[in-house]
Amino acid sequence: MVTAHSNLRTLTAAGLIGLVALGGAMAGCRGERSDKPPRQFLPDMDDSPKFKPQTQTDFFEDGRAMRPRVPGTVAFGAFSSTSDEVATPDDSAVDQYLSRHRADLLRDDTAFYQGKDASGAYIARIPSSVQVTTQLIEAGRKQFNISCASCHGYDGAGGASGTVGRQWAYPVPGFYDPKYALGATEPGPNGSTVPAKTGLDGYLFDVIRNGVWDAAGANKMPGYGYAMSEEVSWGIVAYMRTLQATRQGSLDEVPGERRGELERIRAAAAQQQAAGAAAGPAGSTPAGDKAPSKEGK
Ligand code: HEC
Repeated sequence: MVTAHSNLRTLTAAGLIGLVALGGAMAGCRGERSDKPPRQFLPDMDDSPKFKPQTQTDFFEDGRAMRPRVPGTVAFGAFSSTSDEVATPDDSAVDQYLSRHRADLLRDDTAFYQGKDASGAYIARIPSSVQVTTQLIEAGRKQFNISCASCHGYDGAGGASGTVGRQWAYPVPGFYDPKYALGATEPGPNGSTVPAKTGLDGYLFDVIRNGVWDAAGANKMPGYGYAMSEEVSWGIVAYMRTLQATRQGSLDEVPGERRGELERIRAAAAQQQAAGAAAGPAGSTPAGDKAPSKEGK
């Protein structure tokens, strides 16, 4: 046993010395000055064969190193504008696809991508390129409940409405504050009133995507642009406006044929509130989402 062990040890030691010596030799070759062609241990990384422009090769049948363009390909960026202007009228579906993707890459529609006009000012309303449909508001509601409700509350009332807000010493704003209302104003120079940026759709969009930063550059609210598309961010803006309308709008703004429906929902909600008043904090349940019922129903 003892001899087997020591033999093994001798072998291991010899192997290690051998490795160190080989390593040294290779390192030596690398740094050595010589007129002879260098030794190459891994030549594939040293020489990557390439064709020079305008040269000959026997690799391709036509003998040209430069390859002609594959028929039908269109160079990316070949379009002069982001509109549906088409270069090859017979293939407009492809052209539209390309120009749409080019617009996405260039992101030069500042209203849609930044919530700002060409001069860098926040836009007042959701841009016309966004179709505000029930579907979009629904997508906004879903994402709001995922990304915003934990702090601002499912109802957007801020303060103790959200789970985080309840535990947090830092005040979380609620969106029913008049300064977040659409078209909110604030005192301007010489006793005038000017639009408050907090009332602009473009500003809300910017906050959703990039968060809130104070003048000293400290982050007060994280941005959530990484988690959603621009389209859905506009959906959140639309949903926030919808939430505001539920408390700040009037019954006259509801289409006549749907007022009865609203009255019924109101009555049911009032009943539920009366029944659950003793059970726990109100305003923390997402409207329309399944929340665990206290009765276990
Ligand atoms: C981690 C908690 C948290 C989450 C999540 C969160 N916010 Fe905020 N939000 C804050 C806090 C805190 C402030 C107040 C920042 C300040 O001005 O000091 C704030 C401020 C705001 C403001 C007001 C900005 C201003 O200038 O007055 C808006 C609007 C807003 N949030 C929207 C959203 C939306 C929409 C989402 C979801 C995409 C969201 N927030 C997600 C914590 C959060």
